[in-house]
Order: sequence, then structure tokens, then C-alpha cells
Amino acid sequence: MDVSHTMTPIHLRNLPPPDETFDHITFLRYMAQWIKPECYLELGIRDGRCFVVVAPFCKRAIGVDILGAPFSLASNMEFFKGTTTLILNL
Ligand SMILES: C[S@@+](CC[C@H](N)C(=O)[O-])C[C@H]1O[C@@H](n2cnc3c(N)ncnc32)[C@H](O)[C@@H]1O
Repeated sequence: MDVSHTMTPIHLRNLPPPDETFDHITFLRYMAQWIKPECYLELGIRDGRCFVVVAPFCKRAIGVDILGAPFSLASNMEFFKGTTTLILNL
């Protein structure tokens, strides 16, 4: 029995197994590599595992979360600690 999917945190799954076919971080990384966005906004970055993978392909990358950002920010990265509602009303 393949239990490898049980090692992936549930918030990183797209669909419950066995329907899941890809992980969203890999998908977003490919999209960012291809599009090279002027600006990437991630609302709710948790530990930044997606944000830090996508950000290098973006001119400007903005992360928002009610928790802190447990990683260092590169020069193209900005982080706002607070609710998405608060940030989007700035
Ligand atoms: C599912 S996780 C995000 C996963 C991340 N986007 C990824 O791809 O790895 C949800 C995050 O949203 C944050 N969050 C929840 N409610 C929020 C709010 N109202 N404003 C900002 N961040 C919020 C939580 O702290 C948590 O880190």
C-alpha cells in the first residue's frame, strides 16, 4: 500500500487522495517561471514554502499573513503581518 501521500500536510493537498495529481507549489513555480509576473500577491503564506519558491520569478512578491514570516526577505519580497481584510483596505 502506498502511503506516501500521508506525509503531505493537508493544507498542501489539492484534492484528497487518490484524486490528487499534482502539488500546487510545483504548479505555481512553473507558472511563475513561464509568466515572470510583475507582481505576485499571496494571501496567507503560512511558513512561506510556496511564497519563497514563487517569489524569485517575480519582479515584486507580496505576502500577507496574520502570523509572522519565518524566513528572510529577498529584495523583491514584501511581507505584511495582518489580516487580508486590513491589508487589502490599505
Ligand atoms: C492554508 S495556509 C496557506 C498556505 C500557503 N498559501 C501555501 O501555499 O503553502 C493559510 C494561512 O492563512 C493565514 N490566515 C488565515 N486567516 C487569515 C486572515 N484573515 N488574514 C491573513 N492571513 C490569514 C493562516 O495564518 C495560514 O498561515
